[in-house]
Amino acid sequence: MIPNDTSTSLIMIFGATGDLAKRKLYPSLYHLYKKGKLAEKFAVIGTARRAWTHEQFRENIKESIITFVGTNDQIDDFASHFYYQPHDVTDSNSYIQLKKLAEELDTKYSLQGNRIFYLAMAPEFFGTIADHLKSDGLTETIGFKRLVIEKPFGHDLESAESLNAQIRQSFAEEEIYRIDHYLGKAMVQNIEVIRFANAFFEPLWNNRYISNIQITSSEKLGVEERARYYEKSGALRDMVQNHMLQMVALLAMEPPIRLTTEEIRSEKVKVFRALRPIEGDEVEKYFVRGQYDKGTIDNNEVVGYRDEHNVVPQSNTETFVAGKLMIDNFRWAGVPFYIRTGKRLTTKSTKIVIQFKNIPMNLYNKNEQLSPNLLVIHIQPEEGITLHVNAKKSGRNIQTKPVKLNFSNEADNGINTPEAYEKLLYDCLHGDATNFTHWDEVALSWRFVDKISEVWENKQSSFPNYKAGSMGPFEADKLLQQDNFSWWDVTDLDVENC
Ligand code: BG6
Repeated sequence: MIPNDTSTSLIMIFGATGDLAKRKLYPSLYHLYKKGKLAEKFAVIGTARRAWTHEQFRENIKESIITFVGTNDQIDDFASHFYYQPHDVTDSNSYIQLKKLAEELDTKYSLQGNRIFYLAMAPEFFGTIADHLKSDGLTETIGFKRLVIEKPFGHDLESAESLNAQIRQSFAEEEIYRIDHYLGKAMVQNIEVIRFANAFFEPLWNNRYISNIQITSSEKLGVEERARYYEKSGALRDMVQNHMLQMVALLAMEPPIRLTTEEIRSEKVKVFRALRPIEGDEVEKYFVRGQYDKGTIDNNEVVGYRDEHNVVPQSNTETFVAGKLMIDNFRWAGVPFYIRTGKRLTTKSTKIVIQFKNIPMNLYNKNEQLSPNLLVIHIQPEEGITLHVNAKKSGRNIQTKPVKLNFSNEADNGINTPEAYEKLLYDCLHGDATNFTHWDEVALSWRFVDKISEVWENKQSSFPNYKAGSMGPFEADKLLQQDNFSWWDVTDLDVENC
């Protein structure tokens, strides 16, 4: 929860000229500022290689707000809190300059020595920066110090362990905020509330009443300009190791004894520990990989993955993953958690479908199976929940029809809920690490994923195997068919179709 009620802080952003900073961080800080959620006493130092002045930096901040927020209200005052420092992440002199500027701003804004170091840049520099922050004296401060790290946190367990060991030389675990932006999404945070604040879900939330759970996170976009990173990552490392497994943990965890960061994390860790390892020959039975071929998205022809910029012609990188996860504990034994995620699919959508078991018989029509009850959690783009139940068709005969009880977060609030980054920045400013990933979660999820990538990397696949604009390879359907299930069509489940 919130141990510190002051958000007064100096925020240092490494990678201040990058895309993430422009698209997400500056707009989020601006929203917090406008809502009065940022202390009046705040300052931001942006660092990057470019030789910009403070003024040039502020112009860029304003441009980012105008482009991504669409307003210039109070923009000069907001931008006046921003400072720039040209920086070479490997050179001590840069850090010495940075320290000087930090101390000046500390005095100017009375920042009480509170410092947030936000690493929004290439992961290969995470360790180096953390080392320098300590050796060049930036972490010596009378206030708090926090390190915010973007993903990927390592490339596999081994590299993640060595990165962790390195940054732990400069920061304690509780000072490290590992970002998983899915944990900032309103409806991902809502999973816990839906489960633990309602009398009728929790008693049914187990293998006696739930037949399977499906989590789909599909994207229309392709690899865009990120092939250099994505070629080494693929969908398994890019989406499954973090976002997908985090959603699984929130769905599967036991109720924490209280809502503290430690208690929630410890319940999530237990889920990861109970995940059945999938290795060797099992991988083929439990996981499916895919890579997109050319196809049509929104009536536009798009190229196949192998023809994208910076992708090697015979690339073995997966742009789609579907998997069946088993959680071997008392609550979940026997209930498959199916996950699927991919690029260049039919629609941009993240949804969770909890499918309840069929009731023992259909009193209304012996020859037909009643539609199963579903709880659909709409993570994005719409936010809400839908409950699928059976009711009586109007008319004299008693016949059933499936109906949907729908709650839309957007309709309720009238406006879009805050961006994930806005919430995460706010939490970090207040010292609340609940929605960031603890090292134990990172380590266990890499351990799980590594066994799958080991098999995939050593075996050439028959890619491409799905058309852009489809919902992935046929094998992903077979994965469920062999258990007598099928994927719920995410577009059918959209709120507007309810
Ligand atoms: C990022 C991945 O973590 O999540 C991207 O690196 C992916 O490849 C993105 O596109 C998806 O996020 P969202 O919020 O659009 O679902």
